[in-house]
Amino acid sequence: MTTTPFDFAPLLAAGLPPPAAKYTGFPKYNFVGGHNDAEQVPLDALLAATTTVLAREGRTLATYGLASGPQGYRPLREFLVGKLKRDAGIACTADNILITSGSLQGLDLVNGIFLNRGDTVIIEQETYQGSLNRLTRLGVEAVGIPLDRDGMRMDALASALGTLKRRGVQPKYIYTIPTVQNPTGTIMPEARRHELLRLAQQHGVPIFEDDCYADLIWDGRRPPALHAMSRHGGVIHIGSFSKSIAPALRVGYIVADWELIARMLAIKTDAGSGALEQMVLAEFCNAHFATHVPALTRALRRKLDTLMEALAEQFGTAAEFDEPKGGIFLWVRLAEPVATLRLYQAALAAGIALNPGPEWSTDKAYAKGRMRLCFAHPSHETIRAGVAALAEVCRREFGVPARIANVERRAGTA
Ligand SMILES: Cc1ncc(COP(=O)(O)O)c(C=O)c1O
Repeated sequence: MTTTPFDFAPLLAAGLPPPAAKYTGFPKYNFVGGHNDAEQVPLDALLAATTTVLAREGRTLATYGLASGPQGYRPLREFLVGKLKRDAGIACTADNILITSGSLQGLDLVNGIFLNRGDTVIIEQETYQGSLNRLTRLGVEAVGIPLDRDGMRMDALASALGTLKRRGVQPKYIYTIPTVQNPTGTIMPEARRHELLRLAQQHGVPIFEDDCYADLIWDGRRPPALHAMSRHGGVIHIGSFSKSIAPALRVGYIVADWELIARMLAIKTDAGSGALEQMVLAEFCNAHFATHVPALTRALRRKLDTLMEALAEQFGTAAEFDEPKGGIFLWVRLAEPVATLRLYQAALAAGIALNPGPEWSTDKAYAKGRMRLCFAHPSHETIRAGVAALAEVCRREFGVPARIANVERRAGTA
């Protein structure tokens, strides 16, 4: 009997991405990922919601799709209809909503019905790495549009649309994160949203609006969604409960015309997203969403303050950033000659995880000295200690910052 283990390698499909790394736990100072604040997970109310909804409707778990069909638990879609109207101005019905396994599945489904290898899309120059990587893997050309403090720049968009038109290229969509942009934290004002809609209509390009941070604005005031403002349709909207409640639930949603939802359902091959999470969320959200979110954003705002103070103290003028109006991350520019891809490696060896800017941008040179720090998950103490440790690594690798904790380092004292 042979003991040689079976070799699967020659049988693997062609074109697979590189294998994933094994999970070995979080680093000590974890400033990556969209994790949420563990203290703010509304445990008691989630426990009560679980008991109530299971006692009332638990037997519907015997059927795929509960008693609601493949678009997702109807009471959750009904909650979203009300919430999206109230908060984002979106007028839709439960038939226009498809519940997904996180908004990442929303990205996959929208890409799945629109994109072929060789297609072109327009995106924000700095953007969500998960979106960027998907486009790369699909062999789609992503044209990056620079941002300013109000989000995607419309002069640059108009120019890119014109250039593509002259080349005979019709972009498949304009992807934007208009409300608390990832990673820059900008919020696109209403006037610019009108201009974006006008340009998109003029060129016959749909807009793909990714809005998962819109609930997390410090003053609670958000502009209407692009989906709500469009007079001619042409906007697909996705959202998520990952940032407002908890990412491990894996519940997101797509708002689109039924004709598009029907095409997406046809390629959504998981026979429905996890049902228990949807039931618990609907039960919880109807009673508590409106009070939970302000408490969460207050806690996040305090963590942002801690992070900004720690950066000012440890890096001084060597770290520049615009204060975001909401969200869970800070986009930081470090002084020359810092290269955050190299800093990332050195920091990781010291137990500090950060997102290097070039992985979040179509312009690797522009993003060379930039990084994204997520402040939602680490405690205040971990934020302070992590930033101090990062400053130490950065100074060792790049001589920046020259001063640590407002104390000048003399040669030989490090
Ligand atoms: C802009 C954006 N879109 C989508 C996602 C995916 O989130 P989820 O699948 O947890 O809803 C994220 C997560 O960080 C994000 O930042």
